[in-house]
Amino acid sequence: MNRFIDLDFTRSLVEEKELSRYENQLKISNADLWSGREAFTGWVNLPLSYDKDEVQRIKETAEKIRKQCQVFIVIGIGGSYLGARAVINALKTEEDGYRVGGPPEIYFAGQNLSGTYHSELIEKIKGKDLCLCVISKSGTTTESSIAFSILKDEVYKKYGRDEGNRRIYAITDAEKGILREETTREGYDSFVVPDDIGGRYSVLTAVGLLPIAVAGIDIDKLLEGAALAAETRLSSKRQERFYFSTLAATRLALLEKGKAIEIFEYYEPKLQYFAEWLKQLFGESEGKNGKGIFPAALQFSTDLHSMGQFLQEGNQIFFEMVLNVVNPQKDLIVPESAGSLLAGKSMNAVNQAAVKGVMAAHEAVGVPIIKLDIPELTPYYLGQMIYFFETVCALSGYLMGVNPFDQPGVENYKSEMRKVLKG
Ligand code: PA5
Repeated sequence: MNRFIDLDFTRSLVEEKELSRYENQLKISNADLWSGREAFTGWVNLPLSYDKDEVQRIKETAEKIRKQCQVFIVIGIGGSYLGARAVINALKTEEDGYRVGGPPEIYFAGQNLSGTYHSELIEKIKGKDLCLCVISKSGTTTESSIAFSILKDEVYKKYGRDEGNRRIYAITDAEKGILREETTREGYDSFVVPDDIGGRYSVLTAVGLLPIAVAGIDIDKLLEGAALAAETRLSSKRQERFYFSTLAATRLALLEKGKAIEIFEYYEPKLQYFAEWLKQLFGESEGKNGKGIFPAALQFSTDLHSMGQFLQEGNQIFFEMVLNVVNPQKDLIVPESAGSLLAGKSMNAVNQAAVKGVMAAHEAVGVPIIKLDIPELTPYYLGQMIYFFETVCALSGYLMGVNPFDQPGVENYKSEMRKVLKG
């Protein structure tokens, strides 16, 4: 099996010579990114030089949590939520909209402001032993603060304050913010969101690694996959296998041809939250100063029956990034009763026929398509994908002339919301 995720640009409708105009800028961008001098680029060298003691402590804490509770609730939003959910959903089998995998059962909270969602969550976990993990770099995010205070009340009601505090884990800034103050005051077990890593680039820090380890996923393998991707920049021979720069330049060339929407398409439902993570990564990193490619996600073949018409014959303002799992975890053989075209074939073979059929149909009407082959859904390949897309996103942002590591526009709705709340 291939040791690397692999990109196919043959249907991108961008010729190699078109990419040459980005060459100089890419040289500068690559040098900037890996110089270690740019703000918020702590994630760049992280897989190669992470703190081994910290990762060991994450693993030990995860083991303790696995013994301590039946239900583990991860409280966070945006970059303090999506990375962990992306990896856990991709690798764990059970999912009912709230819960992913087990034991312990893992639930997510604070990723919305819905009273219904959180009431139903509290109903579901009644009578079960609980642990909470609150994740917020700023410590002031409305969604996670509300969910944390509601769930903390539940924990205190059940266990009292002292035992309750032993069941609360916090991941936040090392020194700043009210969550750090509270953590110190109440004595929660805690980890740090590094200063030089922004939320959407933080999945390979404790922010993602603790919940992922509690889910029983091998975080060493995740980091190993990411390290392999990171190492490629040190070797000119292997570098091309990851095509960081080629993809960044191809995306820019497509944008300049009027393709302002990138659709992440996946045929394995387990990639749903990975696509959500991609949407946040690219949307928040590129969408500023009137620039950026709008990221969208479609689950196939489900969405072919709702959006397939538009893709085939609608306004051609998009290009497609196909996330193709080559060897899915499980398979079934289609029985005779399904008819001669399908009988005896494996379901995965039919899914692959859909991948090829859709690409052929879309190629015929001029849709640019880039395909990413993922050999298997494992921590190792997910680690590669995380590092790969983070790097492509950063380089794309530089090429567009935006800062891929800030999100000044997110503040506007928050201040409007505060005005409404004040009445
Ligand atoms: O990527 C980001 O920086 C954001 O999506 C944040 O992660 C998100 O807003 C949550 O912020 P915090 O971790 O401060 O609660």
